[in-house]
Amino acid sequence: MDAPAFDFPTSVTRSTDLSASTADTRTGHHVFAPVTPDEVERGRSTFAAEWDTAVRSVPSSDDGGASTFEAMDLLRRPVARATCAAVLVDLDPDTRDRVADEVLAWIDALAPVIASPRAPRRWSRTRRREHRARVALEQSLADVLPGCGITDTPSVVATMLAAGIQVPIAAGAWLLVHLADRTDEDFDADHAVWESLRLTPPTWVTARITTGPVEVGGIALPAAAVVLVSPLLLGRQRELAPDGPEDLMRFCPKRWDRGDMRPGAWLPFGAGAHACPGRTLGLALLRDLAVWARPHRMTLASSVTIDQSRGILPKPASLAVELWEGSDS
Ligand code: HEM
Repeated sequence: MDAPAFDFPTSVTRSTDLSASTADTRTGHHVFAPVTPDEVERGRSTFAAEWDTAVRSVPSSDDGGASTFEAMDLLRRPVARATCAAVLVDLDPDTRDRVADEVLAWIDALAPVIASPRAPRRWSRTRRREHRARVALEQSLADVLPGCGITDTPSVVATMLAAGIQVPIAAGAWLLVHLADRTDEDFDADHAVWESLRLTPPTWVTARITTGPVEVGGIALPAAAVVLVSPLLLGRQRELAPDGPEDLMRFCPKRWDRGDMRPGAWLPFGAGAHACPGRTLGLALLRDLAVWARPHRMTLASSVTIDQSRGILPKPASLAVELWEGSDS
């Protein structure tokens, strides 16, 4: 929270041109305005409609049993369209969907750049592909932003959209994975969301740089030290999450029934000047997804591993889904 002492790293991607730097802060990293309640509502209602369409498009199994889908794939368009609808006001649906697909294309092209253990060379095939995808997206944004009354640069908006799409897709997939194989039909949607963000925060580590000598938890740090803050590890601290019927390593929405501990103390959305500006939208989408999941019986079609290439993603997040007996929604 102490922004002057802990600065945002100039570039988290090891190539200065990928961050939307506009010299608004000391290191020059842009400070994003938080999404507004109207934006959240636009995003949420778009997500509800698009998720419904996406789920209906999943072919039913030949034997009339559960349908199977890959959550990371099925969530892509509903989340992308929802975030675009939230951020880009008054766009006609065709243009919004085209921009959403372009953000997804940039995210896909960016993935190998971020995942690479050594930064790919500037003119490598990987970087050229990422560059082409980013230029195409920024060109589209340059065309539509004036009509949306947005004065931020295309590069700033592209960053906002990419951050607001990639992370919620992973968060949504984790939520569905955790809710699969549950034995209890009933759960509180908000509690399930917080519990999923506690156990598997998609951005499992964030970074800051010290601007001068400083002490953290009794440890003296010099200037220019990299400080890594891990929501994943903080979420397993006894002081920050309630005990429940299950221990802290297990998914247990019920632990939040106690209501005497603040959800989010383990920083799943970061903290300070660079905390997530889209957290209210992210929470709204996840809540809708949890409400959708409630009447559905889900099982994991194969065991899940953790892909650590861009934050943490469930891989595969392959789910077999049917309605609980007696459920009609
Ligand atoms: C459940 C969904 C989401 C989660 C878990 C999440 C998590 C995070 C985290 C942990 C950070 C880093 C904060 C820090 O370093 O202190 C972050 C940054 C950011 N998020 Fe989110 N986020 C979510 C949804 C969204 C949405 C929907 C948007 C946009 C509409 C968004 C836009 C951003 C942006 C632009 C940043 C960079 C902020 C900066 O560098 O100043 N996020 N998010």
